[in-house]
Amino acid sequence: MDCSIARLSSHTGAEVRGVDLAQPVDDATRARLNRAFVEHSVLVIRDQKLTPPQMLQAAGLFGEVFPQHNARFALPDFPLVHYISNQDRYADGTRYIPGDGYHTDHSNDRLPPKATILHAVKLPDHGGDTQYVNMYLAYDTLAPELKERVQGLRAVHVYQSRFSGRKLMGLDPARRDHVPDHVVHPIVRTHPESGRKALYINPIRIEGIVDMAEGEALTLLDALLAHAVQPQHQYRHRWRPGDVVIWDNRSLLHKANGDYDMSQVRYLYRLMLKGDRPV
Ligand SMILES: [Fe+2]
Repeated sequence: MDCSIARLSSHTGAEVRGVDLAQPVDDATRARLNRAFVEHSVLVIRDQKLTPPQMLQAAGLFGEVFPQHNARFALPDFPLVHYISNQDRYADGTRYIPGDGYHTDHSNDRLPPKATILHAVKLPDHGGDTQYVNMYLAYDTLAPELKERVQGLRAVHVYQSRFSGRKLMGLDPARRDHVPDHVVHPIVRTHPESGRKALYINPIRIEGIVDMAEGEALTLLDALLAHAVQPQHQYRHRWRPGDVVIWDNRSLLHKANGDYDMSQVRYLYRLMLKGDRPV
């Protein structure tokens, strides 16, 4: 298969053209896509039109599908495929914007998903971009004393941090048993495929740092986040109909933007792929 892969920014994101994920993909193309995924952290595969089972098939090119935590968003006929929609509301009637606020997906799992895949089914005319932050760069550019300070630190991740600025949809009781109370992951992790170090923080899930006073931990986490999300570390994805975007949760933060006309539907399929224990 003769596909093209072109950078979308100097450090994050590449655009793939000339591949049809609804069709079988040969081994050489599959290997090339996986290398590009690790190198660029975000792959934008243009002009796809996938049904949920085709999306499951396509995800298999990159890894094994991860069962997502909140079954509320599962498609009834294909529960491994979830949806993201701006049409859901909290119990109090206010609109739920999934993915608002910087985070990395499901870091409260012992083995957090290595990747998340979205497929744009319906998009608003304008807005709704996804912003990605390159956490390799965030780590590389830390001031030397801060870099020294975060070595060996471990953070406590929970389903929803009491310090989170965003409220998540509650887990239904049947799923609660499958989601750990808390897990501990290093704040600096080494990517198992690229070998590079990246900051691994998550304001929605992290509730503290092991052996550090709460106030000190929150101040440090705020400083790390403020450094990380600077514009020069970002790639901002403007969605086009048919985009399939796969990103690396081990080397990125991301967030959605609820900045568009909410009378227009924004609907995407979402899948995750199994990952390793962060080290
Ligand atoms: Fe997310």
